Amino acid sequence: MLIIGHRGTAGTAPENTLASFVAAVRAGVEMIELDVHRCAGGELVVIHDKKVNRTTNGTGQVNKKSLSELQQLNAGYGEKIPTLREVLDMLDKQVKINIELKGPDVAKPVFNLLEEYKSLHGWQCEDFYISSFDHSQLLQFRQWDKQTKTGILYEGKPKDFAHLAKKLQAFSINIPLHKANKKTINKIHAESLQVWVYTVDKPEDFLRLEALGADALFTNFPEEMLKLSGKK
Ligand code: G3P
Ligand code: CA
Repeated sequence: MLIIGHRGTAGTAPENTLASFVAAVRAGVEMIELDVHRCAGGELVVIHDKKVNRTTNGTGQVNKKSLSELQQLNAGYGEKIPTLREVLDMLDKQVKINIELKGPDVAKPVFNLLEEYKSLHGWQCEDFYISSFDHSQLLQFRQWDKQTKTGILYEGKPKDFAHLAKKLQAFSINIPLHKANKKTINKIHAESLQVWVYTVDKPEDFLRLEALGADALFTNFPEEMLKLSGKK
């Protein structure tokens, strides 16, 4: 099973920060997951919520703030909100990156940035993985990029996923832990799609998912999950 560092190592470091991603690389993950919004100036920034309130010492909406305003905030232990560029530059192909498209207008700028990093900095399609709960963002992304693997995120039970998956040429259906049962996993596998499960932090859940044949999991504690999977 593929172990993905959720927001880096969100269980032990401030989520979606450079420190969190460095810790995930040190833990030995093959892939990290992060969340992307656009700020007022259009730059892509790595933060989960629409607002900065929960994860920083500031208040207000990400898309109403300039990059310099955002970068003055403390995202935990003195960490800053990174741009997607800063994350790519720092990781420099050490791990694959699952970029979750959070904002309503991020598909095109993310596509443009990936093209730039592929043509100028040696990244490859295989280094990236695109996912979103906003399926229209995934469809937009697919118009321009026919190759990069995509995962369709569902908050609940994935209904009518097969048609969309075909249209998107998706690779996985990404489902919440509480919907990851034998029937659903088998149904997704029957469509030749992988099953990726979020967010899995308990050993008993890891063991259950392994027995059910899930293909990947997102965890806030990648080191522990890698030990369980025997990869560490
Ligand atoms: O991609 C898996 C997971 O990150 C989706 O939920 O809310 O943590 O972005 P959330
Ligand atoms: Ca996410």
